Amino acid sequence: EIRAMIFDLDGVITDTAKYHYEAWKLLADELGLPFDREFNEQLKGIDRIASLEKILSQSPDGGQFVTREQKQEWADRKNANYQLLIERVDESELLPGIMDLFEDLLAAGIPIGLASASRNARTLLQQLKLVSRFDVIVDPSSVAQGKPAPDIFLKAAEELGVAPHYCVGVEDAEAGIQAIKRAGMFAVGVGDADILSTADYIVSETRQLSLERINSHFFK
Ligand code: G6P
Ligand code: MG
Repeated sequence: EIRAMIFDLDGVITDTAKYHYEAWKLLADELGLPFDREFNEQLKGIDRIASLEKILSQSPDGGQFVTREQKQEWADRKNANYQLLIERVDESELLPGIMDLFEDLLAAGIPIGLASASRNARTLLQQLKLVSRFDVIVDPSSVAQGKPAPDIFLKAAEELGVAPHYCVGVEDAEAGIQAIKRAGMFAVGVGDADILSTADYIVSETRQLSLERINSHFFK
């Protein structure tokens, strides 16, 4: 049976994935690099510097001569863009259905973990008044490898004290689904079924997530 549920934040609990996109788009435009929504799919779930490197790989020389200091400066610039965009985020930006799911998990005694790659996650949870809902919030800087590596999901399971095969991971990103599967967990995808095809169960929107339905698919 399901003994823990571990969530991604951006694009699952709140629609901040659109703000990450906008913040990267501003930077890419400044640098004169191509960037669109399709390319952005590859960045979902990927940490800040790795995302920047993917964007720089689109430049004629593949970004191979950019210094570490320069990369840090551009990554900081993107983060400044992002922080301006999320400044006013509050509970009204919770995706429909997520609170009902959290209620059902609480009632069922299933603990909740957060496995977000974002260093802004804790601030966002505070703005969304969700901090106390989580039994565990993994600090992304505490894990060796980002998604698609399983580290952050495994750390969440470990901190929750639940073996991975009793855990469900919920993600909107391809890299995130890969991380969940590599962790040996049941993967629930939220979004486009073509992009998230390796998930064990897929819904198109957060509002379609229900404990009952996830349960009925769990290692069926
Ligand atoms: C999440 C988002 C990514 C973002 C990453 C790091 O995984 O899906 O788009 O790049 O977090 O976020 P941060 O807020 O630390 O730059
Ligand atoms: Mg996400």
